[in-house]
Amino acid sequence: MVEATPELTSTSDSPALAVSVLQMLRTATSVQHKALEARLPLTHADLDRSLYTRIIEAYYGFHVPLQRHIDQFVSPQACDPKRYKVAALIKDLRALGLSDGQIDRLPLCCDLPRLQTQGHLLGIMYVIEGATLGGQVLRRIIADRLGIEADSGGEFLDVYGRDTGRRWKAFLKQLADFDQPEYNGDVVDAACATFASFERWLDRAGVLL
Ligand code: HEM
Repeated sequence: MVEATPELTSTSDSPALAVSVLQMLRTATSVQHKALEARLPLTHADLDRSLYTRIIEAYYGFHVPLQRHIDQFVSPQACDPKRYKVAALIKDLRALGLSDGQIDRLPLCCDLPRLQTQGHLLGIMYVIEGATLGGQVLRRIIADRLGIEADSGGEFLDVYGRDTGRRWKAFLKQLADFDQPEYNGDVVDAACATFASFERWLDRAGVLL
């Protein structure tokens, strides 16, 4: 569960304290994260291989168009290919028994968060990069309950492996370097919109509790 950092507020007695964009993101998305965590059956006792496969199919249906959306916004040179997650999802779907034809026919989400500014991009990345932290908890659960490891359908949940912490810190540095009060609203709006869009998509896919 994400620790929500209380927003620092100014009063007439105390000078305004700057609230970092990361603190703003944590405060703004903490309820959405908790709601999604509670509704996603990845930690649920009834999770079985079939439901897990449907969840990974739905993740694929969100990440493929989202990655295209990002690629259209930034030049390919500016994208770090190591952050691409679609290849891991395809590998998982194949390991879970889908053919390439079945993967190609999976439905794709059209209701994506708005991406018009660098701030929006960072807000979207906050959600998809942050999810790799939870993935570290989830990958152990999937291994224990379903016997699924990184090479047998669980690669996405462990997409950065031992690099998870280092990559998250690198992203936080990118976020801190961007931090500018006049643009932080875009970052927070995009993060909230990404959580909302992902939850709607998973709901439509019928994989939420
Ligand atoms: C059952 C599902 C999930 C579980 C158990 C879970 C669990 C966690 C855990 C343990 C952390 C690390 C918290 C910390 O170190 O303080 C985390 C962070 C995070 N998770 Fe999840 N998560 C789940 C689903 C998701 C999903 C689906 C998303 C978004 C698509 C998501 C987005 C995030 C973000 C953005 C953070 C970073 C928060 C921060 O440190 O600022 N999580 N999650």
